[in-house]
Amino acid sequence: MKINEIAKQMVLKGKGILAADESTGTMTKRLASVKVESNEKNRLTFRHTIFTSKNISKYISGVILFDETIRQNKDGKTISEILNNQNILPGIKVDKGAKKLVGSDETVTEGLDGLRERLKEYYNLGARFAKWRGVYKIDTQYPSQNCIVANAHALARYAALVQETNMVPIVEPEVLMDGKHNIKKCYDVTSKVLEETVKQLRIAGIDFSGMVLKPNMILNGKESGIKNNKDEVADFTLKCIQNNLPTETPGVAFLSGGQSEFEATENLNQINRQNKSSFAFTYSFGRALQQSALKTWAKDIKNIEAVQKVFDERSEMNSLAAKGEWSADLENAA
Ligand code: 13P
Repeated sequence: MKINEIAKQMVLKGKGILAADESTGTMTKRLASVKVESNEKNRLTFRHTIFTSKNISKYISGVILFDETIRQNKDGKTISEILNNQNILPGIKVDKGAKKLVGSDETVTEGLDGLRERLKEYYNLGARFAKWRGVYKIDTQYPSQNCIVANAHALARYAALVQETNMVPIVEPEVLMDGKHNIKKCYDVTSKVLEETVKQLRIAGIDFSGMVLKPNMILNGKESGIKNNKDEVADFTLKCIQNNLPTETPGVAFLSGGQSEFEATENLNQINRQNKSSFAFTYSFGRALQQSALKTWAKDIKNIEAVQKVFDERSEMNSLAAKGEWSADLENAA
């Protein structure tokens, strides 16, 4: 498949991406929050349970995997085979994490050394798209120009290598929700970050028809005390993306970034209701797709069906939101 076809399939109407690529450290925190021991077997059991839920192929176009998971087998099949058999694209997180930026309290994402070789290996393991996340925080003096440029440059070099390997890069510049700032400040910072990211992607010669943008939604800071208004979130988010993303890009798959499951779905739905652009707007959620499933699993680690049901319900709500067809009443009925 050509990269532009893969990218279109990733953001197909009513489908989205499951971000199950938590590093072992993050997964350990997630499992600790529901008092489950983090070992290789438990991490695989939870993920395999979700990857084989009854309706996953209706709502999920692709799954972002972590290095450990793409190498794991269950019942004689690799995880990539299990996904491919359900018409779900396997993807892989390839960055090596956000590391301290010299002279600042910010981070720059690392992982470019040896990336060409790692990508070839992941392709052979079944991956057809990849993910790299740059992180930016908002504070009086942040994000610095250095942080914006360094992360954009790394995202562009990563994206070029991914396309060279015939895979689709998910380009994820995440402006964090943390902070006391208001929505306008988040809009201004995210606009600046997207502008620089697109500039660097152009310099690197990226084919925009073969990539997917994974941005944050535009929100009030978590510690601002201001409640988000969904119409305002949708207005700012759409404007920010339309002003910066080249129209050849088939779509945008948002991260949830610490929003509750309900909020993330509600905001995605409103974005789709107000969308007049050619971009598809869908989900690439981690926490907002898995939180309830994880809690259910922790109650009874053997009750696989209950976990799958919860995951399918959450995915269905997001699928409806990706079409602008979700409403809070449906949520209560589920
Ligand atoms: P969240 O939806 O939990 O923010 O995770 C998405 C992701 O892939 C972060 O890199």
